[in-house]
Amino acid sequence: IDELLAEGVAGKRVFVRADLNVPLEGTTITDDGRIRAVQPTIEKLAAAGARVVVASHLGRPKGAPDPAFSLAPAAARLGELLKTDVAFATDTVGESARAVVAGLADGEVAVIENLRFNAGETSKDDAERGAFADQLAQLADVYVGDGFGAVHRKHASVFDLPARLPHAAGGLIATEVGVLKKLTEEVERPYVVVLGGAKVSDKLGVIDHLLEKADRILVGGGMAYTFLKAQGHEVGISLLQEDQVPTVLEYLKRAKEKGVEFVLPVDVLVSAEFPDLKTKAPANPTTVAADAIPADQEGLDIGPETRKLYASKLADAATVFWNGPMGVFEHPDYAEGTKAVAQALVDSPAFTVVGGGDSAAAVRILGFDENAFGHISTGGGASLEYLEGKTLPGLAALED
Ligand code: 3PG
Repeated sequence: IDELLAEGVAGKRVFVRADLNVPLEGTTITDDGRIRAVQPTIEKLAAAGARVVVASHLGRPKGAPDPAFSLAPAAARLGELLKTDVAFATDTVGESARAVVAGLADGEVAVIENLRFNAGETSKDDAERGAFADQLAQLADVYVGDGFGAVHRKHASVFDLPARLPHAAGGLIATEVGVLKKLTEEVERPYVVVLGGAKVSDKLGVIDHLLEKADRILVGGGMAYTFLKAQGHEVGISLLQEDQVPTVLEYLKRAKEKGVEFVLPVDVLVSAEFPDLKTKAPANPTTVAADAIPADQEGLDIGPETRKLYASKLADAATVFWNGPMGVFEHPDYAEGTKAVAQALVDSPAFTVVGGGDSAAAVRILGFDENAFGHISTGGGASLEYLEGKTLPGLAALED
């Protein structure tokens, strides 16, 4: 983006592909981290006299307008952060978008409606995506890719549009790639990785890679139960991906061969019911040993012994990468595991990277100071796929 700014963008319509896919409760944004992360790019462009057209997806609407996934709350928040009026187009490439963009003066900012209200954005068909990218290209003279959270998606606005316009990478993408490169190329040891979140299937690629890189892997969240099952324990009605048990077993075996330490929960908080995340009514969980989960109960957070164990396993790290919450942190009765990991990272002198939409949101929602971490990534799937060594379409498109 610095080269682009040096060339001059005054009077130019600059399309900023951001990732404003923020968590919402109704129309209330519960974590605006992704909006704040792209704010400097937008500010620099606006200050240089560009007419800034910000675009993003939000959630997974089905290729048609759906008010539950409107970007209007994100546009309003962006306006508050920028302390300026931000125009909002109620469609993406239609009459409203054309009028709003045409009405921009130099230095002004607009947000267009959710890109995924158009089937062409996510289509697997190159021609359909291309046709949508052609329409988007009419709204701009220059493209800036800065939606790091979406660079692993081969979508029209991420992959096809940059090929149609002069393009540059924004500051957020540059920072994110710089940090992740460090983890893949010149990591300081011990390198400890904490993995959580619901599904082990989302993490297989990264575990495969980490078996070659990491010194220690701590597992929590819903995915831990597939590991416990692989170790021969019954997991009651906990989240379980039975079909992944053989793969997980294979990973545990490979880890042993390579001297990578896998650490699994030794105790968990269980309940017969999933907690009510709306009312947050007390859930009254019980603590049981990880090898003694009752048949009619599900594990919803790591237990107190595991919290201590994980903190001790993080204490001597030189580098930590953490992706995925340890439990259902949205409910106060199941937030302690995620809090304990966050606290261990805060207390650690290591270079700490929090990767992932959910874990990044968790540390902020749970009240941690984001400056206490080395880096909080805006990318969930994107940071995992980067670490796996995959080619990310949205980065490849910006490289030439
Ligand atoms: C994310 O939240 O990881 C990104 O915004 C990408 O969203 P997606 O998984 O719906 O493509």
